[in-house]
Amino acid sequence: MTIAVQDRTDSTGKYRLLDVQPLNPTIGAYVGGVDLTQPFGEDVADELRMALADHLAIFLRDQPLDFEAHRRLAAVFGEAHVAPSTKPWRVPGFDEITRMHADETSKYVAGEDWHSDMSCDPAPPMGSLLYLHTIPPVGGDTVFSNMYAAWDALSDRMKAMLDGLRAVHDGAKAFGGIVPRDMELPCTSHPIARTHPVTGRKALYVNRGYTTRIEGLPVRESEALLSFLYDHAQNPMFQCRFTWSPHAIAIWDNRCGQHMAIWDYFPQVRSGFRIQVKGEVPV
Ligand code: SIN
Repeated sequence: MTIAVQDRTDSTGKYRLLDVQPLNPTIGAYVGGVDLTQPFGEDVADELRMALADHLAIFLRDQPLDFEAHRRLAAVFGEAHVAPSTKPWRVPGFDEITRMHADETSKYVAGEDWHSDMSCDPAPPMGSLLYLHTIPPVGGDTVFSNMYAAWDALSDRMKAMLDGLRAVHDGAKAFGGIVPRDMELPCTSHPIARTHPVTGRKALYVNRGYTTRIEGLPVRESEALLSFLYDHAQNPMFQCRFTWSPHAIAIWDNRCGQHMAIWDYFPQVRSGFRIQVKGEVPV
């Protein structure tokens, strides 16, 4: 069954079905005009993909998704990525759905440092869909940063030096001490300037959460350069901050953005589910 949605042709004429409201000129948009709890047509799916390509992170409110609806929404963007490191938190019967939960017993939360999801994988997930049903009274925002903007803002000389270099992304940096000790975690090198397969644009692809060193550089040079790039990537000019409401969903593109979960709400509860979508080997 396809649900009829209102025609909302916007002033640019780009979105006919969805109501897409940018948070700022650089990254993030609120998306309305669709009920994701019900099956929707390919026309809506096309506009969701377009909104993600345009804004890198999109946010939809009041969408009380069950596991099937979450799965259906993720399928708009591709096949599910099932990372071995999510095993301890998987929803029984839904291997691709990871429970994301924090409360007064939590010792850490996922994604507390700036990162691009699972960038340690040889083919990291292209995107992620996080649904939260329970949020703290205040706090628990997620911050997103545009890595096209970060790349574009580097000087031509810096770009020329970085282009062609590769950096190592190590799962042990992100998950060491969190997952069972015998779990093998991926460690892979990727280009520092990554070309997005859909937009063809270059994005800065190193992050504090996973990246450990730049290949081919002495340790001190690698550390200094990475430290500069992490700081550069955190410029508020490249960012937006999403304040959750119960049953909101955030969808983001890991190929051209980074994000960070703000754990300022301990001992309150924040809870929901995440699906990641398969991506390609970064080039
Ligand atoms: C994540 O990094 O996938 C989690 C983000 C969040 O919980 O806000």
